[in-house]
Amino acid sequence: MDPDLRFLVSPGGRLRGRVRVPGDKSISHRAVMLGAIADGVTEVSGFLEGEDSLATLAAFRAMGVSIQGPDAGRVRIEGVGLNGLGEPETPLDLGNSGTSMRLLCGLLAGQRFPVTLVGDPSLSRRPMRRVTEPLARMGARIETSADGTAPLRIKPVDGLRGLIYEMPVASAQVKSCLLLAGLYADGETCITEPAPTRDHTERMLAAFGYAVRREGPRACLAGGGRLTSCALDVPADISSAAFFLVGASIAPGSDLILEHVGINPTRIGVINILRAMGADIEILNRGAAGGEPVADLRVRHAPLRGICIPEDQVPLAIDEFPALFIAAACAEGETMLTGAEELRVKESDRIQVMADGLLALGIAAEPRPDGIRIRGGDIAGGAVDSHGDHRIAMAFAMAALRAAGPIAIGDCANVRTSFPGFAPLAASTGLAIREEVG
Ligand code: S3P
Repeated sequence: MDPDLRFLVSPGGRLRGRVRVPGDKSISHRAVMLGAIADGVTEVSGFLEGEDSLATLAAFRAMGVSIQGPDAGRVRIEGVGLNGLGEPETPLDLGNSGTSMRLLCGLLAGQRFPVTLVGDPSLSRRPMRRVTEPLARMGARIETSADGTAPLRIKPVDGLRGLIYEMPVASAQVKSCLLLAGLYADGETCITEPAPTRDHTERMLAAFGYAVRREGPRACLAGGGRLTSCALDVPADISSAAFFLVGASIAPGSDLILEHVGINPTRIGVINILRAMGADIEILNRGAAGGEPVADLRVRHAPLRGICIPEDQVPLAIDEFPALFIAAACAEGETMLTGAEELRVKESDRIQVMADGLLALGIAAEPRPDGIRIRGGDIAGGAVDSHGDHRIAMAFAMAALRAAGPIAIGDCANVRTSFPGFAPLAASTGLAIREEVG
């Protein structure tokens, strides 16, 4: 990783053309995880070749799974079956990836070998008790640091017990972690979520022929079944498309089509929120890929107005708030976000880091414990620090479309975790962005 990668973005411009952003990160992780523990060969296309999903892939290779690729988004996984993973020789390094760590923690909690999960400084600060505590109730033995963070030392066990659990936070990572542990448990595991969160794990388990019962906010499965390999086409990531949805919405003259984007109802908060602000987003060519709804999204510039973001949209747009805050900065009037304290424990404290960056660019932003108040205004040029958070770097890059001067964004190397090739792709649509090392 190169901590000195900077984005330098000249002001103005508009976004036009047709682009396909890289594959969905959440779905790419799950494709490798389920493919690895399935019986038979799973062929994946559209796989995200970003550092996060590659960390998951490397972890399964280290546990003895033969995986070919990725090659232009194609990955071939020779599944070893539910009980075919082997002990890795070294700790599994999951880099910046919270999804890898939390989902793998569940998948590995019931194994008969020890394994340690480690991550980079950002991941090593993120809360892990939200998974280790319910896993302990299933009989897992996992040690964390004194403050409940990685490294996670998972001890071998003779099996797990099913769990009936109501999650205190609306988290797809926690839900998925516990469902994956439930594959290795005696009896049934039922997880209830306080609000809908992304359901890719449930959908993909079904695609692998594993029965998941869904009753409103509850997802249940019984342990001890088997997964049968399948072919998976990963849609483009709506979380990566979000930067372009915002960029095209705020930049006069923009007209952009984003191809083959996943529009799972549990992920489209960004479309709902932008539309409520006045954005012009059309959903075209609806179809399906790998058990997930997809569509092309056409977005044209439109004047935006500030809103109170409905709290029920928060989990459905959880990764898109850095981009949405830029939309709010360009909107007429005030935008208010509440009920989003989870943003403080993402790859960075996204409320504070975004507020600091917006203030540096002359936008009135008032952080609150569970959200932020942003008053739309004129964006000045200036320097902002992304604090190594990929989504913050990309969000501020789009802000330049409406800035009075250039914006320099520091610490951008982690953009590679979710969106390799962001700068050239954004440049191809009209963003005046260049990368600078050192
Ligand atoms: C993810 C769930 C979300 C999201 C993350 C990916 C997943 O995290 O922020 O980027 O793939 O399940 P939480 O479950 O912590 O909200």
